[in-house]
Amino acid sequence: MEAEPPRRRPGSGPAGWWRRRSLRFRLTATASAVLALALAASAYVFVGVLGRALAGTIDDEVYQRAREVVALADAGRLGDRIVTTDNTIVQVLDASGRIVNATPGTDRLVPLLGADRRERALRSGRPVFLDGRPYGIPGPLRARVLSADAGRTVIAARSFTEVQGSLTATGHVLIVGTPLLLVLLAAASWLVIGRTLRPIALLRRGAAEISGTARARRLPVPESRDEVHSLATTLNDMLARLEAADARQRALISDASHELRSPLASIRLQLEVALSHPEGQDWRETAEGVLEDTMRLSRLAEDLLALARLDEGRTARREPVDLAALAERAVERHGVTGDIAPGVTVDGDALDLGRVLTNLVANAVRHAASTVVVALRAEPPGAGSPLPGSGTARGRGTAGVAGAGVAVLTVTDDGPGIPAEDRERVFDRFTRLDSARSRDEGGAGLGLAIVRDTVRAHGGTVHLEDAAPGLRAVVRLPLAAPETSR
Ligand SMILES: Nc1ncnc2c1ncn2[C@@H]1O[C@H](COP(=O)(O)OP(=O)(O)OP(=O)(O)O)[C@@H](O)[C@H]1O
Ligand SMILES: [Mg+2]
Repeated sequence: MEAEPPRRRPGSGPAGWWRRRSLRFRLTATASAVLALALAASAYVFVGVLGRALAGTIDDEVYQRAREVVALADAGRLGDRIVTTDNTIVQVLDASGRIVNATPGTDRLVPLLGADRRERALRSGRPVFLDGRPYGIPGPLRARVLSADAGRTVIAARSFTEVQGSLTATGHVLIVGTPLLLVLLAAASWLVIGRTLRPIALLRRGAAEISGTARARRLPVPESRDEVHSLATTLNDMLARLEAADARQRALISDASHELRSPLASIRLQLEVALSHPEGQDWRETAEGVLEDTMRLSRLAEDLLALARLDEGRTARREPVDLAALAERAVERHGVTGDIAPGVTVDGDALDLGRVLTNLVANAVRHAASTVVVALRAEPPGAGSPLPGSGTARGRGTAGVAGAGVAVLTVTDDGPGIPAEDRERVFDRFTRLDSARSRDEGGAGLGLAIVRDTVRAHGGTVHLEDAAPGLRAVVRLPLAAPETSR
């Protein structure tokens, strides 16, 4: 076995140090580093361009002076002394290299440039630098060499010190000013980034204050319409959803406990009474009473279990189920009227679908005045309305199945019916309209909730409608595809 390579501890080294810095620090440092580079580069380019421009001006003037002297020399109007208006110095050399003319105060014995350099400058036609100190001029000189008639050479030169001075002054300003500017910009970035990040800090603090129990809290939403704003809104929406789910869960627990309490209290009371007066007690009657309450308890437990299973989104099986046979069985068991087309088959779980039928028929029987009719038919594809809920069916692909048509199951009674405004509400868990009566006859109010959840899990829909008189429950389920129903 190969030894595992030593894993680098995260957070060690400079990269780790960097990652441990605050976001504010890292953003400011990165921005400042980029700025420093940009400022340094632009200062360098600026000094270069300025130097070249100033040198160009000097070179132009020197060249101009030299041209004038050449013109005079060629015209033979060159006096002994050359007069220039600016402080350009000029020497005119004859063919043998002797100085024949010069500006006043200029050395008349030694040429500004030796023969070699003169030669090279002439050939290149470019200005050259030379040291001014031997000629009593501090700093370097910029010189230009031109040739005139009769083998004469004209050398014109001018001090470069001014340009150097300007460049040095500019350099000083930049050396002091650039870091100062950088510090100012870094401070501004630090402040702006800090201000930008403040809502995030507030969000974090708000989130830290939300405890598990007091969920009714919201994160602070900044006024600006930026990314932090949408983050806060999204998180608040999520909190609201969690809160609603939490509230539903609490309500379910409290409702369930409430429902458990009365049969338990009843059992306890019956047993206590029987035990305190054992003589002359009809134990058979007591046992029957206790059994009845126990059955209520076990039905409640089963219903809660069925709902929990549906909530988890897992259904036991998915196989072709003969809905017609299931309906026939329910009709027989409850002794109601049937109007059932044979061979209507859907895909799903027979136990779950049987519970749907039982719950609907039990409700109808309980409320009917005289008759209950269970009807089942198959609608071909395209007939009637499609399955509006099929697209949102949990955990089941209904596309293709719905294309095979729809099974329509109705349970109709001639009882009091349900007012239109309550026909949706009764599908909620633990919702009973006739609560006083249901204490004895009805259940906990879970029947229709289980029906809706089961039908939805099968990719179908269920609704209640007026049967005038009475109520009709309509269940629509996608028919099984023909090849699977065979
Ligand atoms: N066929 C009907 N006619 C009139 N009212 C009905 C009918 N079916 C249901 N209801 C009303 O809707 C309520 C909810 O029905 P649901 O089946 O969910 O609960 P339940 O029958 O009271 O209890 P459970 O089904 O859990 O034993 C009932 O309490 C009743 O008031
Ligand atoms: Mg019921």
